[in-house]
Amino acid sequence: MPFEPGAPVAKGIIPLCVPEIRGNEWKYIKECLDTNWVSSVGPFVDRFEKGLADYAGAKYAIATVNGTAALHIALLVAGVKPDDEVLVSALTFIAPANAIRYVGAWPVFIDAEPDYWQMDPQKAVDFLKQECRWVNDELRNKATKRRVKAILPVHILGHPVDMDPILGVAQKYNLVVIEDATESLGAKYKGRMVGHLGDIACFSFNGNKIITTGGGGMIVTDNEAWAQKAKYLTTQAKDEPVEYIHNEIGYNYRLTNLQAAMGCAQLEQLGDYITAKRRIAATYSEQLTNIDGIKPVTEAHWASGIFWLYTILVEESKYGKNSRELMRYLGKLGIQARPLWQPINTSPAHRGCMEYQVKVALELNQKALSLPSSVGLMPGEQQRVIDAISKPH
Ligand SMILES: Cc1ncc(COP(=O)(O)O)c(C=O)c1O
Repeated sequence: MPFEPGAPVAKGIIPLCVPEIRGNEWKYIKECLDTNWVSSVGPFVDRFEKGLADYAGAKYAIATVNGTAALHIALLVAGVKPDDEVLVSALTFIAPANAIRYVGAWPVFIDAEPDYWQMDPQKAVDFLKQECRWVNDELRNKATKRRVKAILPVHILGHPVDMDPILGVAQKYNLVVIEDATESLGAKYKGRMVGHLGDIACFSFNGNKIITTGGGGMIVTDNEAWAQKAKYLTTQAKDEPVEYIHNEIGYNYRLTNLQAAMGCAQLEQLGDYITAKRRIAATYSEQLTNIDGIKPVTEAHWASGIFWLYTILVEESKYGKNSRELMRYLGKLGIQARPLWQPINTSPAHRGCMEYQVKVALELNQKALSLPSSVGLMPGEQQRVIDAISKPH
């Protein structure tokens, strides 16, 4: 499957985004095997949680089997109930919308803004102010009558959402802010770490993310009660471990010590990986900027992105090919590229859910193409990509 993100690729192929394993991964995993600490408790789980909490500047971190599970639990501990509504980015991988449905709540899809392609904060604010009403200390959607409980902005592609308007309106209406920071570990918003801007946040360590544990996730928060509840729910809601007493429905969502060992080794290298991603992005931006019909991704002056997947917009009328034609052309040259996600308001999986003025996300979906962005992308490989886009046949 040459186009599976994070999967090994054949020789000569330039992959979209694959892991970089060059640190203490072998050493730490061997330590697990040598000591028999391989399962869902162990010193590396604690160390990875502490390391991630410190990195994000949060008080607590809870390791999970993947980022989707982290989102599921974050929604539960934040008090999102069946039939509540949660505002979420329309232009994102589908996992956060699915997690909202896991808890029986409903996504309301908010458009992307045209500059950095993140959730449009103004549209989120407008929706809450114009389409909702304050009734008995709760915000209710005028059309559906449902309670609006949370906002779930997704920092896509390694760039932060413009959070201040979102945090302001959330405070005004007493809404919880759950950050999906799965694609943006290490990115900063106005000097502050993504994942420590709202009430609770989630990371992913899937194979294509900036650091990986094969599969894995993390919840971070400063809220002690939520952190305790998250740990409880992710460990089968075990109240009495010897007699198997469970007072609630729990989940088997903990990360294993083996995976956490890899996570610890990867986390040690995160600074270097971000430097590499930013260097790769700077080279693409410099060399692709003057090609007619190609618009590289931009970074806001208030942001420091990690350029998880470097992405361009392809204007067919000027470039002569559309984004999918360019993707196929690159594919023939052994270069993996990928469009952005189908905006979720148009996904059959979320048919019937509410959307608010989604237009920009649809256009971005048509035009966007993500280019090879692995931390280990070699200069010669990147030049091949640039040359192929500069001189298409
Ligand atoms: C925006 C976003 N949210 C959530 C996830 C889910 O993470 P995981 O694959 O670890 O479940 C991903 C990616 O995988 C993602 O890109």
